[in-house]
Amino acid sequence: MKVQTSSPCLLLLLGSLALVTLTLCGPAASARPETGSLDASATAAMELQELDRVMSLPGQPAYSPEFRQYSGYVTTDEYLGKALFYWFLEATDKPDEKPLVLWLNGGPGCSSIGFGQAQELGPFLVKKDVAELELNPYAWNQVANLLFLDSPAGVGFSYTNTSFGKDPPGDNSTAYGSYTFLIRWFQRFPQHKMKEFYIAGESYAGHYVPQLANVIVDQNKIAPKENYINLKGIMIGNAYMDGDTDLLGIVDSAWHHALISDKLYSDFQKFCNFSLVDLSKECNAAIDQFNALYSIIDIYSLYTPRCELGYPNFNSSFAAQIGRTSSRVSNLDFSNS
Ligand SMILES: *[C@@H]1O[C@H](CO)[C@@H](O)[C@H](O)[C@H]1NC(C)=O
Ligand SMILES: *[C@@H]1O[C@H](CO)[C@@H](O)[C@H](O)[C@H]1NC(C)=O
Ligand SMILES: *[C@@H]1O[C@H](CO)[C@@H](O)[C@H](O)[C@H]1NC(C)=O
Ligand SMILES: *[C@@H]1O[C@H](CO)[C@@H](O)[C@H](O)[C@H]1NC(C)=O
Repeated sequence: MKVQTSSPCLLLLLGSLALVTLTLCGPAASARPETGSLDASATAAMELQELDRVMSLPGQPAYSPEFRQYSGYVTTDEYLGKALFYWFLEATDKPDEKPLVLWLNGGPGCSSIGFGQAQELGPFLVKKDVAELELNPYAWNQVANLLFLDSPAGVGFSYTNTSFGKDPPGDNSTAYGSYTFLIRWFQRFPQHKMKEFYIAGESYAGHYVPQLANVIVDQNKIAPKENYINLKGIMIGNAYMDGDTDLLGIVDSAWHHALISDKLYSDFQKFCNFSLVDLSKECNAAIDQFNALYSIIDIYSLYTPRCELGYPNFNSSFAAQIGRTSSRVSNLDFSNS
């Protein structure tokens, strides 16, 4: 379904669309390493992590709360020359007692730093028009230690020295690349290893998040105990998982929020089978009505005024124009972000 989504990296505000949370069962307790004091190699690692320490950022507000931040690369594949870029922001208060949350934007191809950190849940939002940062009053690092990862290689500041032709990107290699990142990041930041670990993300991270969780759960069973990852749960907002069922969910959600009439809702039920490549004429008519509605309401934030979503000159006529460039009524258009 084509709604007025414009950029390949749309945002969302949790709550306007499906929010999926689940708690994963930990593996057998025997696989768990003891929470002991840090050994000598861990102390060496902490010296390494100090090299990634960011003391301040250009344009950072002088009144920033005190919390440590780190940023840098972790090589995930020496042979192919892949390195993933991260930005880690400790919790503002009692970071040792807070969980660790990995945040992944979707796309595929969206930077978790450019979107999640800088425009959504990170502490430092980028100001409009001036090269300055401002504090986000809703920053998630008030309640958790936040790890933003640009993934896979090729996204944001993450890179590969091997052409995509020789090493095509894909969900599986993304999941394993992120897993390797985590193992090596925990080697650099061993003091965070036994924290409760959560993976959160949005949109196409509806693939990244559960697939990475799956790799972690599988690897935890066979990995040496120092590589055990203390995964506790996952959370996905606006999950893109499967186009056919996601679209039904979008319509359902609109109806439950009283945004569409009973009549339009029943038209969708009657005329639309989103598994089909060619939708019926009646279904397309229902989609047109649906689109018209969301040209005046921000689908990602139903209860706030429409805003520019961080894009220059974003407006409904611009969005509609982009919408028309799609040749097919594609159910992929919600995969963005
Ligand atoms: C990629 O290539 C550059 C230039 O040769 C090199 O400096 C860098 O270390 C390589 N990256 C990785 C992850 O191997
Ligand atoms: C996924 O990637 C891993 C690591 O590269 C590899 O061992 C595995 O065979 C791949 N699985 C599939 C289904 O391609
Ligand atoms: C929707 O279309 C798919 C693919 O042709 C078909 O398998 C399915 O039975 C259809 N569903 C309904 C409810 O008609
Ligand atoms: C809408 O956005 C487009 C593209 O940025 C711009 O050319 C146009 O002037 C804008 N229209 C209005 C009414 O602001």
